[in-house]
Amino acid sequence: MSTAATKQDSELFDRFRSLGQETVYSEESCQHIEELVAEITALKREKNAVILAHNYQRPEIFEVADFVGDSLELARRGRDVAESTIVLCGVHFMAETAKILSPDKRVLIPDARAGCSLADSVDADALVARRDELRKVFPDLVVVSYVNTTAAVKAVTDVCCTSSNAVKIVGAVDSNNILFVPDRNLAAYVSANTAKNIIAWDGDCYVHHQIRPDVIRKVREAHPGIRVVAHPECRTDVLAEADAVLSTSGMIRYARDTDAAEFLVVTECGLSDRLLMEVPEKRFYKACQLCHYMKMITLPGTRDALIHGKDEVSLDREVCDHARASLERMIELG
Ligand code: 13P
Ligand code: SF4
Repeated sequence: MSTAATKQDSELFDRFRSLGQETVYSEESCQHIEELVAEITALKREKNAVILAHNYQRPEIFEVADFVGDSLELARRGRDVAESTIVLCGVHFMAETAKILSPDKRVLIPDARAGCSLADSVDADALVARRDELRKVFPDLVVVSYVNTTAAVKAVTDVCCTSSNAVKIVGAVDSNNILFVPDRNLAAYVSANTAKNIIAWDGDCYVHHQIRPDVIRKVREAHPGIRVVAHPECRTDVLAEADAVLSTSGMIRYARDTDAAEFLVVTECGLSDRLLMEVPEKRFYKACQLCHYMKMITLPGTRDALIHGKDEVSLDREVCDHARASLERMIELG
């Protein structure tokens, strides 16, 4: 543990200063963060653990993460890790996905209450009832579920998708009739980019669904030349204002690779911190929408997860096997 840090030598404070949140990341709090980072780093070694974190996590979580990415990247990485324990710093469906793809590993989430409003908007029984009813009209109907769903829903899904591959997956499945679950905004985005018949489930993400197009227009007026990047969980009228519709990691690549110097980032506001850390030479304006589920994950919680081995994700073996088939199918098609 680094107890020798002084007010003058907090390297972390120097780096976090660019986030412009000195009240949260003061010199004192950065010193405390550095101590926790050192403690967690030692625990990871001792417990043979790897930390995978989603792009929306708090900046201090990135300091202990072995890998940071979007849902698709986390799913892929979760399948391939060598360590016996995975600590998933993200929301519960992400930890479940890691467990589904690595059933013999111990998967921990620092706070099992970190849910997702999309995952809450569909349950397996309701999905099976709707699918069976629709198959009377469309016998070839395929169920495509966003990964923001529970393991039980994935288990009754034909193929999963994420924000970065939804259009591709729908294009690749062998049917013209798709029941797309659970995000109606992502379904509308996919529908606009395919000739297939998309039947949408009526769910939404409470974070993205709140964002309105007039905010974007006002920012564009004030900053001509700004590039607007939006997440496909946003409403159609919001996406219509965007220069690019991308997953969270897609936004990072876009900001890095395009000439523009200023971006309006229309998604959960934590992504702007990640962008500032990854592409410090550019400027990011954010839609101030916070996912309170993502923010339930903290450094003390991550340390305690490693010490006490909880909250551990455990899944019914049969559910796990069926859910794995729909995830593997996505990885194969995508
Ligand atoms: P990404 O897959 O783009 O990271 O999105 C996950 C998510 O939950 C967005 O709200
Ligand atoms: Fe779920 Fe929305 Fe939070 Fe993403 S931002 S984890 S979709 S509630």
